[in-house]
Amino acid sequence: MRPPDRRIAVRFQRRLLTWYRRHGRDLPWRRTREPYRVLVSEIMLQQTQVDRVLPKYRQFLHRYPTFKALAAAPVGDVRRLWYPLGYNARPVRLHAIARETIARYGGRLPDSAETLRQLPGVGRYTAGAILAFAHGRDVAVLDTNVRRVLGRVFLGPRRMRRLRGEKSLWDLAQTLVPRGRGYDFNQALMDFGATWCTPRRPRCGRCPMRSFCATYPAPPA
Ligand code: ADE
Repeated sequence: MRPPDRRIAVRFQRRLLTWYRRHGRDLPWRRTREPYRVLVSEIMLQQTQVDRVLPKYRQFLHRYPTFKALAAAPVGDVRRLWYPLGYNARPVRLHAIARETIARYGGRLPDSAETLRQLPGVGRYTAGAILAFAHGRDVAVLDTNVRRVLGRVFLGPRRMRRLRGEKSLWDLAQTLVPRGRGYDFNQALMDFGATWCTPRRPRCGRCPMRSFCATYPAPPA
């Protein structure tokens, strides 16, 4: 896939950051850079909507404020506390990550993508989120919402349909991260996808990207 036109990429970056200043959400995990808290939030957000994550995030951190506290807890307790978010593998993985972080890394989450990805259940998404949101690195963080936004704006429906695999979207996302702004840019993309460029009723009429969006005006999905 060709890289995007530079002028459009820059326009996208600027408009997204401007949009975020006005419309970005004030979320508790944006008030911390602590790797543990970032990790807990990102694992909760992987399959659950923000509204449902909010109370559980607070409750979880109250009960398990650190890697050490989480690693010391019986995994059954962690699953029970997590349960309203779904009975699944996430609490077990998070608990395993806590134990490994204590056992192998002295209680500090690694800060390289390769080492992060050796932790249980940590893929490119979670590693990217830790690097961008805890360490302020300019790396891409591609989730479902971000995929949809980039696909709509830069590819359009035909090229999206022809797309095979994920690599080219990761490459596109990476070329778009503005230097020094990885944190805000990625948080902004997530909010933009969750609240503006939504799956079914995108707000195309008021969209700051509409002059260059490859999908504008998006038909309902
Ligand atoms: N979904 C996944 N990560 C998120 C974040 N940091 N903020 C809002 N929604 C998210």
